[in-house]
Amino acid sequence: MALLFYSKVDDPEEWTDALKRAEPALDVRVWPEIGEAADIDAALVWRPPTGMLASLPNLKAIFSLGAGVDHVFADDDLPDLPVVRLVDPALTSQMVEYVLLAVLDRHRRMDAYRAYQARGEWHQLPAADTGACRVGVMGLGEIGQAIALALANLGFAVAGWSRTQKQLDGIQSFHGAGQLAPFLGRCDIVACVLPLTAETTGILDARAFAAMPKGAYVINAGRGGHLVEADLMAALGTGHLSGAWLDVCQEEPLPPDNPLWSQPNVTITPHVAGWVLPRTASVQVIENLRRVLAGNPPHNIVDPARGY
Ligand code: NAP
Ligand code: GLV
Repeated sequence: MALLFYSKVDDPEEWTDALKRAEPALDVRVWPEIGEAADIDAALVWRPPTGMLASLPNLKAIFSLGAGVDHVFADDDLPDLPVVRLVDPALTSQMVEYVLLAVLDRHRRMDAYRAYQARGEWHQLPAADTGACRVGVMGLGEIGQAIALALANLGFAVAGWSRTQKQLDGIQSFHGAGQLAPFLGRCDIVACVLPLTAETTGILDARAFAAMPKGAYVINAGRGGHLVEADLMAALGTGHLSGAWLDVCQEEPLPPDNPLWSQPNVTITPHVAGWVLPRTASVQVIENLRRVLAGNPPHNIVDPARGY
């Protein structure tokens, strides 16, 4: 069995070692050293270049090196094959940690305390009232549900927004385009962990910000394409939004001259909220590859019509 590996951000040696630990007979071909293209059964990819996958005549499945698959569907010449995403508890845990970090940083006013410290000031702000802090999670899938439940366990007033209605203990469920504005209207902090699809592109725009209460805070750990950066800058400029915490950007790496870098009250991390760990994720890649080669459907196939 032969697997093509392509990524400019993941370490091919670490992945090859982990995959071969899970299946010693696996033949891992790291792009561009692929040998005979006809040997390749499946591809494990992050942002594959257009046409690369179509050039593999015996490819049977495409595995995303992440939970998201937008980077695969960005290939205009994508072969009509199962596209499989990673659903990895270790990745989900990192995403939960990341959003809790951002929510707690905002909720406990660390922005203000860092500024006071820089000036050598001992200044106490009013106590943070967690039960009165309304947090909204956009996307209630594998990652969003875990985030919403973790926030609710801490005592935040949590709501979630998804395409279909959810029943989750202690979480107020909103769904569909028609309930987006009422959902945003009850959020002091909004955290986006949606997949990037035709329907969700640009969803964090001027209209969405206007639906949020004055002083709302936005966290984007989904994809840069969810956020209209110019609209965010405008909403921060008027003071309608109090700040933002961004892990993902329209253009990655974020160019040095992008004004977001120097915008007060914006925290930026370089797409590191959740990183797939080869040690844990390689096991499911191998299991899915075995299923494909045995003629069985792999787990976690995405629906190309929905885009996630
Ligand atoms: P998932 O299990 O497929 O969940 C997606 C959620 O989004 C579902 O609840 C779905 O609603 C909802 N959704 C999709 N389209 C929608 C729409 N048009 N309107 C309302 N809700 C919509 O995905 P996941 O595993 O949680 O991952 C989510 C995303 O997180 C990934 O696609 C990726 O973009 C991002 N991510 C980012 C990082 C990072 O490092 N920044 C790391 C991992 C993942 P239904 O439940 O009703 O279908
Ligand atoms: C990371 O962004 C992922 O989709 O797993």
